[in-house]
Amino acid sequence: MLSTLAIANYRSLRQLTVPLARLTVVTGPNGSGKSSVYRAMRLLAEVAQGGVVRSLAREGGLSSTLWAGPERISAAMRRGEVAVQGTARKRSDPPVRLKLGFGASVADAFGYAIEIGFPAEMPSSAFTLDPEVKHEAVWSGAQLRPATLLVEREGAALRGRTDAGGWQALGRPVPAWASMLTEFADPRSAPEMLALREQVRGWRFYDHFRTDADAPARQPQLGTRTPVLSADGADLAAAVQTIFEIGDGGALQAAVDDAFPGARVEVQCSGDGRFALQMRQHGLLRPLATAELSDGTLRYLLWTAALLSPRPPPLLVLNEPETSLHPDLLPALGRLVVRAARDTQVIVVSHANRLIAALDAAAEAGALQSIALEKDFGETRIANLDLDEIPAWHWPTR
Ligand SMILES: Nc1ncnc2c1ncn2[C@@H]1O[C@H](COP(=O)(O)OP(=O)(O)OP(=O)(O)O)[C@@H](O)[C@H]1O
Ligand SMILES: [Mg+2]
Repeated sequence: MLSTLAIANYRSLRQLTVPLARLTVVTGPNGSGKSSVYRAMRLLAEVAQGGVVRSLAREGGLSSTLWAGPERISAAMRRGEVAVQGTARKRSDPPVRLKLGFGASVADAFGYAIEIGFPAEMPSSAFTLDPEVKHEAVWSGAQLRPATLLVEREGAALRGRTDAGGWQALGRPVPAWASMLTEFADPRSAPEMLALREQVRGWRFYDHFRTDADAPARQPQLGTRTPVLSADGADLAAAVQTIFEIGDGGALQAAVDDAFPGARVEVQCSGDGRFALQMRQHGLLRPLATAELSDGTLRYLLWTAALLSPRPPPLLVLNEPETSLHPDLLPALGRLVVRAARDTQVIVVSHANRLIAALDAAAEAGALQSIALEKDFGETRIANLDLDEIPAWHWPTR
């Protein structure tokens, strides 16, 4: 399980350390930085897939994603006595870098951090805007300390801790555009890197499901065993049938009944392998096909299939699952999320008070960490925690 998420210089997240519990809810007003937290987590996951440089380019490049405020905010700037301006950079000032990382809640699991910056001068390349990975580190447990550091990358050089406690250089130089997690995979000299990479590759993200008339979830599908619902929900019927066969089908029907009293879902499998989801509702003579379900009903079924996956991921991140659901459905959705958090660590980004209240009511005491973001002088902060409730965090450099 992750104990901490840390982000620096990413959009309005100038310096944010978020304590994580089994179930963490990130909330806050418009523009406070919720979506940025979600996107920062996605970027971290893309590091392990080898796609972080491309993802940054899709977001408009490193320069547009970096914190746009001044490096230091003086008291006089806050009081409005002087204009907000960048302070003159000293030669000794470290360059501004995008930093992402997480800590682990137990000592035999691994923490990781990456720092991405602008490229050094390169005489013969057309890719002068490509950001570069400057620094990476893998350590054991919650915090990076000299004693917990296991593998370190500085520029192109990689070194790892030996069994005797010393250091050894590892492998070939790592190219500036790649993470050591994807470039170096030697189970003997650095098994922790493989373990970490596989863990991060297992993280699962669900964002807005499409439910319009042409949405993938409304089309009939060839069904194959589907323990993990796809991100667009196209394989909903197969995922539901898989839950019936190898997962908790009773919980699925209970979740449907919880939201739509008296309703049940069924999967029709035709001889040519096509699967179709149907829903029997109170008062109707025939079941309704997915094409006939309302947007909210279909979306609720999609969340049900995602959250009751028979193969729970190490981490599940949900972005605004309340979207287009009637407030009356939110308590049932909250109960599903709390149930999922029994098997998986869950982070929910939400601005629906009813959903947050439902999570609060359904979660066991102490199992829910609520993070209320606010924007203070352009910078995202955690409004509901005191300084001593925010875990210590150290980046690889400085
Ligand atoms: N490079 C940047 N530097 C500083 N702040 C930025 C930068 N890019 C975007 N922002 C600000 O970051 C803030 C956070 O945006 P974000 O989309 O995360 O908010 P949100 O909490 O998801 O809001 P909503 O509820 O409206 O979706 C916005 O107010 C935006 O103006
Ligand atoms: Mg948002």
